[in-house]
Amino acid sequence: MKFFIDTANLDQIKEAQDLGILDGVTTNPSLMAKEGIKGVDKIKQHYVDICNIVDGDVSAEVIATDFEGMIKEGEELAALHPQIVVKIPCIKAGIKAIKYLSSKDIRTNCTLIFSAGQALLAAKAGATYVSPFIGRLDDIGTDGIDLIAQIADMFNRYGFETEVLAASIRHTMHILQCIEAGADVATCPLKAITGLLNHPLTDKGLEQFLADYNKLNG
Ligand code: E4P
Repeated sequence: MKFFIDTANLDQIKEAQDLGILDGVTTNPSLMAKEGIKGVDKIKQHYVDICNIVDGDVSAEVIATDFEGMIKEGEELAALHPQIVVKIPCIKAGIKAIKYLSSKDIRTNCTLIFSAGQALLAAKAGATYVSPFIGRLDDIGTDGIDLIAQIADMFNRYGFETEVLAASIRHTMHILQCIEAGADVATCPLKAITGLLNHPLTDKGLEQFLADYNKLNG
């Protein structure tokens, strides 16, 4: 399973990249706003800055909600850097835009997916990724992981090449559940990724190894 980091914070992106396990980055307009990135030129430059830190795919989201606007913005974003994947919301104009952009060999990530039906439409339109939002479903008492499993199963059964990019991951346990559910990618906050490292037996074992070494060599 690939790991993307879900942030527009350059320090966190660098930290994950330095760890050597990062496969890409996802952003959205809220994450860009959180970093105080405003204005079209600054936003575009920020995407380029992110691409220059990581080796993998970087999702950049369109703001337009009409077909013409989405494809114009999508083409501009894709032209910024070969690593850019154009992120498009799962609405009617978005599905049409995904179809158009994929016919131009522009890669897309269909976002705000909350049902298998939406994922099916995005895949049929040629999306590179679909992003089902786990945490936001959990927030309303619906099991987000179930949706990941349902979509992964559907894509396998019908041979879709679209990858399941599990999004809205809130904690480390979600990542482990995504593995079982068959997600191709998990996009996570840095804290959820580093949480995978934690185990009290590792800490205890290391402490013992060092104590034993120091008894003889210290
Ligand atoms: C990433 O592609 C999504 O935009 C993001 O994971 C949403 O996460 P949230 O539900 O925590 O805002």
